Amino acid sequence: MSFDRRAFRNALGCFATGITVVTTANDAGEPFGLTANSFSSVSLDPPLVLFCLARSSNALDAFTASGRFAVNVLAETQRDLSVRFSTAIGDRWDGVEWEAWETGAPILKGCLASLDCTTEAVHDGGDHVILVGRVKRLSSLADGKPLLYYKGDYARVEE
Ligand SMILES: Cc1cc2nc3c(=O)[nH]c(=O)nc-3n(C[C@H](O)[C@H](O)[C@H](O)COP(=O)(O)O)c2cc1C
Repeated sequence: MSFDRRAFRNALGCFATGITVVTTANDAGEPFGLTANSFSSVSLDPPLVLFCLARSSNALDAFTASGRFAVNVLAETQRDLSVRFSTAIGDRWDGVEWEAWETGAPILKGCLASLDCTTEAVHDGGDHVILVGRVKRLSSLADGKPLLYYKGDYARVEE
């Protein structure tokens, strides 16, 4: 390798992304979720999406065992949710408004878009696993701006 970890992260950080909170629920209905910017569309037909989950995640077993997940695309007004779901605090879900659609994975209120998925495949991805989801139900807002992530910091769409 001709580069170190810092250089790799710096290069990846040049790719601006949106931010999502990916969620699932275990058999008991207990919610799990974390902030993720590794979300990507995969296929239109069938409708497939993916995100990458660190093998070190506390929610790894919940995501791989449940067979379902939801992707909640954050609006620029939801930075607090991004911080909450990427930080070790007492209970991430305390005071968070959510509902269940078809799969039972938590759909957060007020997001720009939400995608309710069954897990189509789990692939090896080094220190992450790649979860591919088949979209079963979705919603998106016609208006509203996304929360962005760029070079390791939050950003907004300027107009
Ligand atoms: C903007 C942003 C994007 C992130 N994207 C991912 C991601 O795609 N996959 C991932 O596993 N962790 C990602 N993280 C880190 C997790 O949100 C963070 O490690 C979280 O505390 C994991 O919680 P858990 O161990 O309860 O799953 C991201 C964090 C931030 C702030």
